[in-house]
Amino acid sequence: MQEKNENFFITTPLYYVNDKPHLGHFYTTVLGDVLARNKKSQGFDTFFSVGTDEHGSKIANAAIINKQNTQEFVDKISQQFKDIWNKANINYSDFIRTTENRHKKGVERFLQDLKKNNYLYQGVYNGLYCEGCESFIQKSDLNEIGFCPNHNKKPEKIKEKNWFFKLSSFEKKLILLIKNNKLKIEPESRKKEVLGFLKQGLKDISISRESVKWGIPLPWDKSQIVYVWIEALINYLTVLDYPWEKSRGASCKSQKYWPADIHLIAKDILKFHAIIWPAMLLAVRFDLPKKIFAHGFFTINEQKMSKTLGNIITPKELFDKFGVDGARYVVLAEITSDKDTDISWEKLENRYKNDLKNNIGNSFSRIIVLAQKNKIKEFNFSASKNIKDVINKITKNFNTQINKINIAKAIQETQKLTNFLNSYLDKTKPWQEKNKEKNKEILTNSFNILFNTAKLLEAIMPEKTNIILKIKKNNKLIAPKKNIHLF
Ligand code: MSP
Repeated sequence: MQEKNENFFITTPLYYVNDKPHLGHFYTTVLGDVLARNKKSQGFDTFFSVGTDEHGSKIANAAIINKQNTQEFVDKISQQFKDIWNKANINYSDFIRTTENRHKKGVERFLQDLKKNNYLYQGVYNGLYCEGCESFIQKSDLNEIGFCPNHNKKPEKIKEKNWFFKLSSFEKKLILLIKNNKLKIEPESRKKEVLGFLKQGLKDISISRESVKWGIPLPWDKSQIVYVWIEALINYLTVLDYPWEKSRGASCKSQKYWPADIHLIAKDILKFHAIIWPAMLLAVRFDLPKKIFAHGFFTINEQKMSKTLGNIITPKELFDKFGVDGARYVVLAEITSDKDTDISWEKLENRYKNDLKNNIGNSFSRIIVLAQKNKIKEFNFSASKNIKDVINKITKNFNTQINKINIAKAIQETQKLTNFLNSYLDKTKPWQEKNKEKNKEILTNSFNILFNTAKLLEAIMPEKTNIILKIKKNNKLIAPKKNIHLF
């Protein structure tokens, strides 16, 4: 158990509002929610941030395509994200939007500090830009026909006067920090990827755009708009009310959460988080985040999830099929965080049926029915030693997997516990047991296993597990009066 009130700050990416929330956004956000709830239950003073990325040409053009005023368009889509996170029981501490004034103020201050510390200079950017990626790209990034491989689109050629950030100054320092795990990049394969990239050498990057209109102007040169990625990364500070002026006193209380403990992202945005963001922080002499965890990408039936292919899965569709807790569970159980995964409706449905309906759900009903049949209303909350040993071992393995951010494997541990319960029931056959005391002992053990399974799954399925956890009162297990169908 950690000291009470130790801080823990975990972030999700800010999703672009050019599109509605989908399974990709849902997965990262639920993953963050589970980690945050888990830390909170261990006594940490936890801050969990989510939000939306609303500036740049991609968003401005999406508003034009939708024939809407840009601000109204971003308000609408951002609200859709907020509504979905509320419905999904995402227990976020704050939802930040990059069009908010508090964000603008922080961005201006951060850029002024970069300039004051001599890390910015004026130059001309002459090269390629992919609007889909909102990123300057190299010829070597393109496919055989000269298109961006991620967006299957020809990048624009741009030549404009910009402000540049001296990213190249941080190459050696970053290599050292990452190698020595002062800045942890996980899983290991992503750390290697970043180190490989750093070894090729870093070039300075443009941090402003002349031709873009929808964004935050540079405080000292209003003809330039801050490059959307540079601005969005600063959200990890502005969500904590940065700039932290001493004079603001109590309103700066969120400062205590910096540095972030985990920036949770997927592999698509690794370079921005593991190279550009730490370099920006070093340039203003801020502490670096402790860990960047980049999970893999998933495909649907071996194909990229895309509008054109019409295979986008939305959180709403998942809730309609599995309920909110069921959706959280199946997605976390099916997607492995350290690799790319292929999923399908069939896999999700099977997972729901096997793990939730037939396994946990069924065991719960079975035990309640037996308790009622034997007229047992209350049990002391103490299992036999060998049962406790199994529970403790599985709990330990579960926590190890959670700490590695491997929720799918942690879930497998909870399944071991329900499988153990089923084989215990099959072996002890309480439905045949005539001895009342023996019967009570078997059911006490069974309730204990179930109760502990629910405790492990609490952060993943807060509502369903609460039904099970409620059976414990004053250190006694109270058998529900009626049968309950969990799923
Ligand atoms: N706005 C930037 C992030 C700025 S953070 C300061 C952005 N937004 S995004 O809307 O494109 O979201 C990318 C993130 O969505 C990924 O990093 C991942 O968390 C999630 N995913 C979107 N599609 C996904 C998959 N198909 N698979 C896994 N995660 C996916 O990039």
